Amino acid sequence: MKALLCKTYGLPDTLSLEEINPLKASPGKVVITVRACSVNFPDTLIIRNMYQFKPELPFSPGGEVSGIIKETGEGVHHLKPGDRVFALCGWGGMAEEVEVDGNRVFPLLPGMDFVTGASVMYNYGTSYHALKDRANLQKSDTLLVLGAGGGVGLAAVELGKLMGATVIAAASTEDKLKVCKEKGADFTINYSEGDLKEKVKILTNGIGVDVVYDPVGDKYTEPCIRSMAWKGRYLVVGFAGGEIPRIPLNLPLLKGCDIVGVFWGKFAEKESAKNLTNIRELAGYLKQGMLKPHIYKTYPLENGPESISDLMERRVIGKAVVVM
Ligand SMILES: NC(=O)c1ccc[n+]([C@@H]2O[C@H](COP(=O)([O-])OP(=O)(O)OC[C@H]3O[C@@H](n4cnc5c(N)ncnc54)[C@H](OP(=O)(O)O)[C@@H]3O)[C@@H](O)[C@H]2O)c1
Repeated sequence: MKALLCKTYGLPDTLSLEEINPLKASPGKVVITVRACSVNFPDTLIIRNMYQFKPELPFSPGGEVSGIIKETGEGVHHLKPGDRVFALCGWGGMAEEVEVDGNRVFPLLPGMDFVTGASVMYNYGTSYHALKDRANLQKSDTLLVLGAGGGVGLAAVELGKLMGATVIAAASTEDKLKVCKEKGADFTINYSEGDLKEKVKILTNGIGVDVVYDPVGDKYTEPCIRSMAWKGRYLVVGFAGGEIPRIPLNLPLLKGCDIVGVFWGKFAEKESAKNLTNIRELAGYLKQGMLKPHIYKTYPLENGPESISDLMERRVIGKAVVVM
C-alpha cells in the first residue's frame, strides 16, 4: 500500500510517497482502508517534531480519517469489515491504510460522504466544547472568533450562530471573511489592517464582546482582551500565530472577565460521557443539515505535502482534505 512518509523531520516537501507492506490489525485495533484524510494544524507540527505527540520515524501524518474497515483485531466486536467509519487516529492517515484503536472509530452517519466524514469531528468537537462547556454561550452574547476562516474558527462561527449568539468573524483576508458571512457571521473584521480593538469597539457600540474564541494567540490576544465586555469569557484555544502571548493580569481584573483554557482532547478523555453527549448533539445537527464543513480543496495522496503547506501558509479556508 502507498503511504506518505515522514522519514526525517522537516517541512512538507521532505515527505515522500512510498510503497510499504499492507497493515494487519493488532488486538483491540482495526485497519481502515482510508478514503479521505483531512489536514489539521497538528499535521504542520508533527512533521517538524514540534508536536506534543512524537511517533517513531518513519510515520505518516494525518490524524483524522474516514474509510472502510478492512480488518478487525481480536477483541473488537462493535465494528466489522465493510463498515463505513471515521476516526481520530492521531497520525498515519495520509496512507491507503491506517491502524487505529477500535475505541477511536465511529460509524459514519448514513448518507455522509467520505470527505465530509473526515472533516467533522476535530473542528466541531473542539468548538462545541469551547462554546458550550467552557463559555456557556448565551443567545444574548456577542461572540468574537479569531482565525475565523480556519478549521476550528469556521466551526465556531457556524456553532455560534446555531447557538443564537451574535457573531463577529475576524480573519486576515476578504476571501476568508466572505465564507464566514456565508456561514452566518453577522459582522466581519479584517485584522490584517487597522486597529483590531477600535474595530471591535465600533461594532459593539463601545460595549465590547462577551466571548472571544482565540485559536491564534500571538499579537491578537491582548487587543481582544482589551475589547471585552464586563464579565466576558476569553477562550484560549490555540496559538496558530506562533507566539504564546503573555497577558498583564490587570486586564482580567479591570474587565471582571474569565480567561478560560480549552483542551478538547483532555476533556474527551476525562469527561467521556459529556463528550459523547456533545458528539450525539453534533451528529443531530449534521443530520439535519444545520452544520456543514466548508471544503477548501481536495488533493490526491501524492499532493499531500501541498495540502500541509497550504495550511501552514494560511491559504486554506475551512478544511483541506487528501483523498485516496
Ligand atoms: N485547544 C484545543 O482543544 C484545540 C483543538 C483543535 C485545535 N486547536 C488549535 O487551534 C489552532 C487552530 O487550528 P486549526 O486546525 O483550525 O488551524 P487552521 O485551519 O490552520 O486555522 C488557523 C488560523 O490561524 C490563523 N493564523 C494566524 N497566523 C498564522 C500563522 N502564522 N500560521 C498559521 N495560521 C495562522 C489563520 O487565519 P488568518 O490567516 O485569517 O489569520 C488560520 O486560518 C491550532 O493552534 C491548534 O493546535 C486547539
